[in-house]
Amino acid sequence: MIYSKITSVGGYLPSNILTNKDLERSLDTSDEWIVTMTGIKERHIIDPNETSSDMAYKATLDAIKTSKKDLKEIDLIIVATTTPDKIFPSTACALQNKLGIGECPAFDIQAVCSGFIYALSIADKFINTGSKKNVLVVGVDAMSKITDYSDRSNAILWGDGAGAVIVSASDKPGIISTHIHSDGKYESLLHVPRTKNLSGKDTIEMQGNQVFKIAVNTLDRIVDETLKANNLKKSDIDWLVPHQANIRILEATAKKLDMSMDRVIVTIDKHGNTSAASIPLALNDGIKSGKIKPGETILMEAFGGGFTWGSALIKY
Ligand code: ACO
Repeated sequence: MIYSKITSVGGYLPSNILTNKDLERSLDTSDEWIVTMTGIKERHIIDPNETSSDMAYKATLDAIKTSKKDLKEIDLIIVATTTPDKIFPSTACALQNKLGIGECPAFDIQAVCSGFIYALSIADKFINTGSKKNVLVVGVDAMSKITDYSDRSNAILWGDGAGAVIVSASDKPGIISTHIHSDGKYESLLHVPRTKNLSGKDTIEMQGNQVFKIAVNTLDRIVDETLKANNLKKSDIDWLVPHQANIRILEATAKKLDMSMDRVIVTIDKHGNTSAASIPLALNDGIKSGKIKPGETILMEAFGGGFTWGSALIKY
């Protein structure tokens, strides 16, 4: 059996920071409301001239810095994004060009906030079958480009950034299991209505309250599914690295796992919801801060537009 393992992590956040105080100046909202309802204090916002592939490039260089692998050893690039540079070609191809590592395959995955888990699941399968040895997986989103900053229920939530991991073939399990799902019947609860002929609103519309309730229930089920599939107890999980959507959703999942919040990697206060970037950025934070140690068992989970949801159980 060929296993796959995350061997290196990296991240990038734009330098421009938008605080709750900044939002108070243009919206009928308050720092207190935002922190109480979401846990968010600030978020990073991309420069108007910067693109998703620029952020992905910087996150990849950060991952390569601490990796024993050379960029030339990458034999597949998967980018999870909802905010591609262009309609085509893919952001993965744009990233490949910036990295100067043709001719390996490169493609994008669109599963909104669950995109990184989807991409990791695909990387794992390519490695398990012996088809690829070193896969670059990037989660990147420039959510500010599709956010209406006059809509207070959306403007407060979203942030920009990129997280990258290198997944390599290994003789010991690193990625233990991945689980992905979607249900398109919920499409209109969280979407950007713009169609391919470019008609319709091009910013996020969300029924926040309904999304919240379904997210908590669905994440409960994905935790059960992951533990059951691996015959594990809740206490076998050392760290929860969740998609950073809302601190109250994170707390509900931690409660489900009987886990105290100091075993949960929380970045939402500083990053907001960076969609596909949020899990790899949180993983990067957990590892680089020294909290997550080699050999520990980590549960990553996500929920997002589609709806899509999923989990990955890994040993770091
Ligand atoms: N400041 C002040 N008041 C606000 C703001 C704001 N920024 N936004 C909404 N309100 C008001 C509403 O207008 C409403 O006022 P009303 O009662 O006078 O009509 C009141 O607050 C309650 O509004 P709700 O939308 O019901 O508030 P809710 O408790 O659902 O909180 C929130 C809103 C924080 C967006 C929440 O629904 C949420 O986080 N949902 C999860 C959605 C999410 O995270 N989506 C991201 C993608 S999916 C995922 O990643 C999980």
